[in-house]
Parts: sequence; structure tokens; C-alpha cells
Amino acid sequence: MALRVDILTLFPEMFAGFASESMMRIAAEKGLVNVHLHNIREHTHDKHQKVDDSPFGGGPGMVMMVQPVADCLAAVEALDHRRGPIILLTPQGEPFRQPMAERLAQQLRLTLICGHYEGIDERVRRFVTEEISIGDYVLTGGELPAMVLTDAVTRLVPGVLGDDQSCQDESFTSGVLEYPQYTRPREFRGDAVPDILLSGHHGEIEKWRREQARLRTHQRRPDII
Ligand code: ADE
Repeated sequence: MALRVDILTLFPEMFAGFASESMMRIAAEKGLVNVHLHNIREHTHDKHQKVDDSPFGGGPGMVMMVQPVADCLAAVEALDHRRGPIILLTPQGEPFRQPMAERLAQQLRLTLICGHYEGIDERVRRFVTEEISIGDYVLTGGELPAMVLTDAVTRLVPGVLGDDQSCQDESFTSGVLEYPQYTRPREFRGDAVPDILLSGHHGEIEKWRREQARLRTHQRRPDII
């Protein structure tokens, strides 16, 4: 089942490398996830293509206007009959975590709105179905958060990663952090790969990995146990 991701932004060029490289490129080539970028500025009505204005009531900075966002959204909705969550990326949103990525990966369509400037007109919130934050820090815009969300969701769409197991073993999906991984060489500057991994005893290796994952989670992220 393919996923369509529509991203509404003032800075579509920021997504160029993201959408055309690595996993996102493969997902698009396989027809599994297709990202469509939409420039909010193209939906302004005045000749200066104004997308922001000073806040009513005064105060510093500029506020992103509701009209270009609303019109861009209406145009984007008309492009495809599929419907799905309309998400505003904002530090005020619900924290983005793996279960949320898993839920979003089951949708047919995601529409992401990237805010910018000091804020976005409150009335934009009427048009969205959810608000998501990628963490407790403030970025200059919703573009990086939209990429983070799209990346985390895309890799969960069945068929995007070669091996479905690689999604299941990893940190957060299994409830514990991932076990330590090694590849060639067997020894690097005196630092050797644990013998157990070279033993060929698959049962013992499994046990060691489970224990390492448990230990690591206990030490680094006791909050997720
Ligand atoms: N826009 C600015 N900061 C953000 C954050 N932490 N999460 C989502 N959107 C944002």
C-alpha cells in the first residue's frame, strides 16, 4: 500500500537532497512512498507574495498568515481523493515517538504543514487534525521536523527496507535499545569484537544480544523500561 506525503512549506528547496537520496529515493522508486512538495508562497494573492505580517496586539517578529496556508491546503487536498491526517509541525504539538510513527505508517496519505517565523496565525489550527513536536527544542521552522517525521514513517512502510526484521530488532520498537553491532575487521587498534559473536553459536549469540540490549537500556534509558 503506497503512502502519499504532501508537504506544505515556504522552503521546498530544503527538501531536495532529502527526497532524492538514500531510503527516500528507494521508497519513491519502488512506488511505496511519494513525497510532494508545495510552496505556500504560490498561494498568496498580493503582488509581493506576502506570507507573513506583524502580530495583532504588537510584539516582536512576524506571524505566518492563515490565508496562503488555507488556500495551499485546499489546492493540495484537491490533488488526490485519499484522505489522512493533516499535521502541523510545532514545538507545541504532541511529542513524536515510535508508536506515533507506526500509526502514521499505516495511513494512505499524510499532509504536513511547516510553520515558520516566530509563529503561525492561530486560525491555521482549525485546518489541522493533529499537531506534532519532534522534541523539546525550538527550530526555525517545521521543515527539519517534517523530514524527521517522514523519514521515521517511511522506513516503517512495508517493503521500503529490504529486510522486515531490521525494523523489529531496533531500539524503541522492541521496547529496549539495540544491542551493540560489529563488522569487519575482527580487531581494530587493539579493540576486538566479542568472542561470542565469532563463535557461531546462534542461540548463545541471541542470548548475549538480549542481555546487552537490556543492560544498555537500563544504563542509558531506564525511563523506557
Ligand atoms: N518547529 C519548530 N520547532 C519544532 C519542533 N521542535 N518540533 C516540531 N516543529 C517545530
